[in-house]
Amino acid sequence: MLQTPTGLAHGLVGQSQQIASIRRLIEKASANRLPVLLLGESGTGKEVVARAIHDANPRGQFVPIDCGSLVGTLMESELFGHVKGSFSGAAGDKRGLVELADGGTALFDEIGDLPLEMQVKLLRLIQEREFRAVGSLQWRKVDLRIIAATHRDLGAEVAAGRFRLDLYYRLNVFSLRLPPLRHRKEDIPLLVDHFLSAGNTSGLSGIEPSQELFETLHAYDWPGNVRELKHCIDRLNALHSEGALQMSDLPSALQYHCAMSGLERLSGAVALSNPPTGSLPDFAMAPKSPVISLPESERQTIARALAATHGERGKAARLLRIGRTTLYRKMKQYGIE
Ligand SMILES: Nc1ncnc2c1ncn2[C@@H]1O[C@H](COP(=O)(O)OP(=O)(O)OP(=O)(O)O)[C@@H](O)[C@H]1O
Ligand SMILES: [Mg+2]
Repeated sequence: MLQTPTGLAHGLVGQSQQIASIRRLIEKASANRLPVLLLGESGTGKEVVARAIHDANPRGQFVPIDCGSLVGTLMESELFGHVKGSFSGAAGDKRGLVELADGGTALFDEIGDLPLEMQVKLLRLIQEREFRAVGSLQWRKVDLRIIAATHRDLGAEVAAGRFRLDLYYRLNVFSLRLPPLRHRKEDIPLLVDHFLSAGNTSGLSGIEPSQELFETLHAYDWPGNVRELKHCIDRLNALHSEGALQMSDLPSALQYHCAMSGLERLSGAVALSNPPTGSLPDFAMAPKSPVISLPESERQTIARALAATHGERGKAARLLRIGRTTLYRKMKQYGIE
């Protein structure tokens, strides 16, 4: 397999054991034309893996199909095409995505969102390798590889009556689960390098994240997985101008996380040096996943940092890992005295 020293193979970056075994499974899957089911949380790289399976043994086109975006006749016609006059608006014959993927690979993305009536048609496509365009009486034979992907628990969808058991069995022959990024944090440095160099269109080299920034990226749990990391690095790339990647350039969710873990460390230290009976109302921690807006969480975090440092702004800014000026600006913005 073609592989660069950075661990990039088929566009899949990573050096963890999990990524290594996914690479082996990609090789296995690409050796035949059986359906493949890709499972995993949003942003874990299901589409990257689907393309890798196609590219490892390229034949025909790779056609991604978003099952969640279309409904009713429009979806059927988008998938299988239609003949002229089959419904109002069908001014001429139209080829569908399935025909486009003939000889190649069709990725049925978010397969869990495919309506039941379309699931029957997909089952027929897999079993008989044939389909019928909307308004046509003729079945057409096709030869395509089907890859399906979903972030949903398909077993639970079957149990709830929203997904056909027979289709589930057909798809679940070769399934591959993409692990969340928080379970393979050793991939973060390579991914950061990859996204930094991919986003560096200025041709300037030497954008180096500081050790502190790396530690922060490592400590965070990345609920949006690799996609969230990519957005974060794209943002750093765009904001960076004078050579230094600043903590304050991180998205607010990450800044919030840093501030909270800073406060947790501080409140831990204070708790150790105070008897448990001591009342510390100012150190009451916010719930880990507060259902409040980001600006509100930022306001509360700043207020807590100020309370924790008895109003010493320099200390509060350091605790929050932002510059003093940023702290003053935000205090003014939130009306904190
Ligand atoms: N291992 C990886 N190496 C390089 N880029 C990756 C990797 N995993 C994910 N990405 C990048 O992260 C982003 C999200 O990946 P992708 O679209 O494949 O996720 P997904 O699992 O299909 O997510 P969703 O369920 O939301 O559709 C893309 O920009 C993709 O290029
Ligand atoms: Mg996807």
